[in-house]
Amino acid sequence: MPNYTLKINGESKEVEAVEDMPLLWVIRDLLKMKGTKFGCGQSFCGACTVHLDGNAVRSCSLPISAVGTGEITTIEGLSENGDHPVQKAWVEHIVPQCGYCQSGQIMNAAALLNSNASPSEEEIEQAMAGNLCRCGTYNRIKDAIVTASK
Ligand code: FES
Repeated sequence: MPNYTLKINGESKEVEAVEDMPLLWVIRDLLKMKGTKFGCGQSFCGACTVHLDGNAVRSCSLPISAVGTGEITTIEGLSENGDHPVQKAWVEHIVPQCGYCQSGQIMNAAALLNSNASPSEEEIEQAMAGNLCRCGTYNRIKDAIVTASK
């Protein structure tokens, strides 16, 4: 099996994996970081969202061989102490209900603010539309992103 050197959360990690292994399973099973979640496995739900060079990607559908030298950030590496503006706004608005989808929601929201520091409500809705939440926390998610963007 090939060896890969991943840049993840500011560290360099060596892993051995088949080339089509999804990044999600590399993160969860090989690197033992469980904050990134498996929802659908088919790019539909967003639960597995991480950043690659600051952009949101769906790790369930990204083979490890396609990561290259990109910098991966997971929810564990988004901030040192949970103090990223999006995380603070999530706490302020008490966004999560069951919580399962929330790391993906937060990572997608943080990527949105990386590319657009002051999104309109419409831009927030558009950017977050592909991140599903079965508890229906969508209004609180939108409010939290508005707070984080201030
Ligand atoms: Fe990746 Fe649903 S688990 S999009």
